Amino acid sequence: MTPQIVQFLVTAHLSMIVLLLILFVSANIFYQKGKNRIGMGAHYTLRGAYLPGMISGGLLIGLTPDFPAIFLKAAAGLLTLIFMEIHLNHIIGSEHRPRFAFLTYFMIVFTLVLGVVFPVGISVME
Ligand code: HEM
Repeated sequence: MTPQIVQFLVTAHLSMIVLLLILFVSANIFYQKGKNRIGMGAHYTLRGAYLPGMISGGLLIGLTPDFPAIFLKAAAGLLTLIFMEIHLNHIIGSEHRPRFAFLTYFMIVFTLVLGVVFPVGISVME
């Protein structure tokens, strides 16, 4: 049986990821439509969600049997969050950075794939 703490952290990490993705997409859409006030609201909530996302993932590092390969996943996760923040700041500053935007979306998908590939994660959600 999977220890409860692992199940708890996986659930927490997954919930934070869902929240992060919803907030990131919302902030993107609202900023791009010029609805800056509500975009700001989503963006600040997103900033508040970075830390629990990092903590839930960071604690999983020590609990997964894939140590130390999992550092690749952790580095990808951290970079994804940094790129999300920089990408939103490009939009706020009306900077057109299509390649950086592509890189950000690529990192999100890449991190999701890595998260699913490493075996602890979703497989313990029985
Ligand atoms: C500093 C940030 C992050 C760290 C340190 C981190 C670390 C981890 C670790 C250690 C695991 C366990 C992997 C396993 O053995 O199965 C994991 C799982 C996962 N991560 Fe992250 N992660 C971070 C951010 C993210 C972000 C931003 C995303 C999505 C874009 C993401 C998506 C996933 C997914 C889908 C899983 C598999 C389900 C799970 O175990 O909860 N992570 N992460």
